[in-house]
Amino acid sequence: MIHKRSLTRRAALGLLGGGAATAGGTFALGSGTLAGNPAAAHSLRASVIDHALRDGQTTAGMMSFAPDGPPPVLRLRRGEESLIDVTNGLDEPTTVHWHGLRIANSQDGVPYLTQWPIMQGETLRYAFSPPDAGTFWYHPHCNTLEQMGRGMTGVLIVEDDEDAGFDQDLVLNLRDFRLGPDGQFINMFRARQAARGGTQGTVMTANWREEPTYDLPAGSLLRLRLVVTDVTRVYRISLTGTDARLIALDSHPTPASYQPEEIVLGAGQRADLAVRMPGTEGETIVINTLVAGRPVALARLRATGQDAGRRLEELRPLASNPVAEPVLADAEIIPFVFGWGPGDRPASSICGTLGYTFWSINRTPWPGDLPDAPGAIARLEMGRSYIFRLQNETRYNHPIHLHGLTFRLLSSNKRKLPPLLTDTAMLQANETMDIALVADNPGDWAFHCHVIEHQKTGLAGYIRVG
Ligand code: C2O
Ligand code: CU
Ligand code: CU
Repeated sequence: MIHKRSLTRRAALGLLGGGAATAGGTFALGSGTLAGNPAAAHSLRASVIDHALRDGQTTAGMMSFAPDGPPPVLRLRRGEESLIDVTNGLDEPTTVHWHGLRIANSQDGVPYLTQWPIMQGETLRYAFSPPDAGTFWYHPHCNTLEQMGRGMTGVLIVEDDEDAGFDQDLVLNLRDFRLGPDGQFINMFRARQAARGGTQGTVMTANWREEPTYDLPAGSLLRLRLVVTDVTRVYRISLTGTDARLIALDSHPTPASYQPEEIVLGAGQRADLAVRMPGTEGETIVINTLVAGRPVALARLRATGQDAGRRLEELRPLASNPVAEPVLADAEIIPFVFGWGPGDRPASSICGTLGYTFWSINRTPWPGDLPDAPGAIARLEMGRSYIFRLQNETRYNHPIHLHGLTFRLLSSNKRKLPPLLTDTAMLQANETMDIALVADNPGDWAFHCHVIEHQKTGLAGYIRVG
């Protein structure tokens, strides 16, 4: 089934400073798009830049949301309207998606599904009030392998009024870049890998640095936000040299009793940790991930100065987010099968195509970002509870991500799952997992694997609520 989008680009975009937009299209106009409205609290400029990821070695053709360095960390407040102007300084179209935020569908940033692409030189104002506090991120949803691969992945934090009592807050934006020995980009992917686990980067970074060290007061309490914005890598994180506690996963507070030995984060996932800095000046915490079974340092935290003498027990628990609890007894079960694709060539799109179809959801590969989107893979009634039965019939991991809604992990045929709230289910090889949600946010919500090569070669679709 094809549903047509009928309005003109001009009407949909709500160009800043642009004159009369035609009313009555399918896409809602963002608020604040006309001249005379309040200045945006944040502005992002999609930019192609040269930047030294390593000392003395400049990488050409990076992409960022700022003209002079890495994407900024955006700090918003829960429940407060945020206006974010995005100017496209690239020489290709883009959009911005706010990963994990349960906001109005019109602001979700998916080309053709929720908005027209932002064309070269245009500015689009996004406006939304985040209902949940926590650690989120933002990235394009157009030509994503290229734009994200070159650097357009930023961290977004929604602050709560209540303060848990930390002395400081540190964000680590974790991701790889695919660079050759000369520090320049090499091909973004290999088809052979795209049809398997995905193509890994070659240089691991935290905040666009290799193994950075951060100095923090000895004996102080740190909220450490680990954000995996990589297009492929699964991180298996552990810390040495400290007491640390997991306090939130994918934006939502976790039960105090849930303290895994290692924190597994697929592409797009986040973990918040409460960390006590060592009491002695010069002592260092190492944040490691496992690569081929071996710990590799991502970043270091070094204690400086006198022992502040803080203790983890002094922290107050994070306030929970207002996520509706699904009523399992009434829930309809909807099966989704993640499997192979026919291997043919998808249609071309101004938002890019990798030239292959390797994957599918319910045997239907996503054809690419096209003005005539195919039908929804499931339709949910507003306000009802659902169980999604996610069946991975492949030998590869798929971090399955749903926009606009938060779900709870229920059960798996392979392992015991913690009862976490999330927007991304890290499906293991041949795993079948049940998750549950209340369909309480109307709109067309993208549903895809966050290994971007999988998403871009068929493992995508959308769910319609209402
Ligand atoms: Cu970070 Cu469509 O997602
Ligand atoms: Cu998302
Ligand atoms: Cu996948």
